Amino acid sequence: MSDNQNQNLQIVLLGPPGAGKGTQAGLLARHLDIPHLASGDLLREHRSMGTELGTQASSYMSKGLLVPDNLVIQMILERITRQDSGLGVILDGFPRTLDQAVTLDAALPAPGINKTLCIKVSETELIKRLGDRFTCKDCQAPHQGLGESGICGACGGELHQRDDDAPMAIQKRIQVYQDQTEPLIGYYESQGKLCVIDGEQSVDTVTECLIGALGFSGI
Ligand code: AP5
Repeated sequence: MSDNQNQNLQIVLLGPPGAGKGTQAGLLARHLDIPHLASGDLLREHRSMGTELGTQASSYMSKGLLVPDNLVIQMILERITRQDSGLGVILDGFPRTLDQAVTLDAALPAPGINKTLCIKVSETELIKRLGDRFTCKDCQAPHQGLGESGICGACGGELHQRDDDAPMAIQKRIQVYQDQTEPLIGYYESQGKLCVIDGEQSVDTVTECLIGALGFSGI
């Protein structure tokens, strides 16, 4: 049963690579009955379809670097406009730079973003999680380890390791997060929209904290 009483919720999930944004965005989307838009998933879809955007993005992604703002902003804003359900959206992985955040604020109708939920996890734990992560080739759901079958528990697709989950790329992504994305914490804090959640708890507990931070009841 959805907690969302027809509110136009615009939620941003912020946090370092491996913090659990994708895991939690999927759970929140089901709980609140609003779409989940993940910039990384969209870029990987473009890569696998061999589009011009996918080709341009590919070398940045495999090195753990951010794809240039102009490419990502256009892709996300087109998607937000196209899929406007009137109930809002959960943004996972976007915005990731101050320019992206400012452009998003300008594009959304007032009051814009309702809440930015920042999932905090230590660097040691991030490296461990990403090193053990296997992702579904079809639905992109993350899994810890390959399991016995190597098959996705959600859709039955084949599991594989993302090229940016190689050790060098993990380190680079964490550094890029600290340099280019962490400043967004202050940006949303100054707007009174930030809520920080401890991501080193069980998946269910993190979900409950996120739902509580949005002012809804638990799962
Ligand atoms: P993207 O796909 O967004 O990657 P990311 O931000 O690095 O995030 P991850 O998907 O690695 O981690 P996550 O926080 O979603 O964690 P997850 O839920 O999987 O971006 C990839 C690339 O695309 C970027 O590097 C960049 O090149 C490009 N890009 C994307 N957006 C861009 C933008 N806006 N601008 C420019 N470039 C952009 O969980 C991780 C693991 O931990 C999983 O195995 C999971 O099962 C496990 N786990 C989750 N929660 C818990 C828990 N509570 N306890 C224990 N394990 C847990």
